[in-house]
Amino acid sequence: MTEAGHSFLARLGKTRLRPGGKQATNWLFGHVEINPEKNILEVACNQCTNAIALVKKTGCSITAVDLDPTVVEIAKQRVSAAGLTKSIQVERGNALNLSYPDQSFDIVINEAMLTMLGDKQKQKALSEYYRVLKPGGILLTHDVYLAEGRSNEIIKDLQQAIHVPANPYDKFGWTELFETTGFDQLDTLTGPMSLLRPIGMIRDEGIFRTLKIIRNAFKKDNYPYFKKMYRFFRKNKDSLGFIAVAAYKK
Ligand SMILES: C[S@@+](CC[C@H](N)C(=O)[O-])C[C@H]1O[C@@H](n2cnc3c(N)ncnc32)[C@H](O)[C@@H]1O
Repeated sequence: MTEAGHSFLARLGKTRLRPGGKQATNWLFGHVEINPEKNILEVACNQCTNAIALVKKTGCSITAVDLDPTVVEIAKQRVSAAGLTKSIQVERGNALNLSYPDQSFDIVINEAMLTMLGDKQKQKALSEYYRVLKPGGILLTHDVYLAEGRSNEIIKDLQQAIHVPANPYDKFGWTELFETTGFDQLDTLTGPMSLLRPIGMIRDEGIFRTLKIIRNAFKKDNYPYFKKMYRFFRKNKDSLGFIAVAAYKK
């Protein structure tokens, strides 16, 4: 497969690479009081956009991991440029095999990653989050959601549109996955994908960054891929959305 959709969008200048954008993220963070006493892990931190904003807002400390060594380097540079190296520890890490002891975090954040994994890998990642969470800890995650009754054909088209072996579930599939891993007290929110919608982009990135992204998208080399993604998500706007899940460890 060629360049993954999220890497392409990041190259265009997009900082939030998640289906429900700020709306879903803010909803998730409404479930917790974040303060400097909390131990927080963000898995799939990408460029640390979330982590930097959270630390600036709350003074907390975060361990941020991503599998991709290139984005880990970018994240480190961004954290350093923000003067936050004491508060954000950026590491290369794999959600399927976290290097942290059992019960070490109060909060695990994981946005827009589980969809990219196969069924068994999704279970493995969730059991890793469960393992590293303290009892009573919370997992905040959001991902792509397939509207009920929609054909699996869309999944194949999605994979071709974003060059990622994405495998989203419907609401039942997602909640069943969390429950079978042991999480309980699930709270969920679903809504439209904001990733490429003009209104979602402006809300997530602000007007000036949105204009920069659009300018980059229209460059000759970028336009064909951008057009393919944009058209796919517009055509399937009633079939694909976001689901945000806040899940507690007993
Ligand atoms: C779509 S991006 C989402 C980034 C960010 N969470 C956001 O919401 O803007 C998916 C990220 O997941 C990372 N990723 C994929 N598989 C992973 C794994 N097994 N462990 C850790 N990170 C992973 C990718 O490198 C990429 O940065």
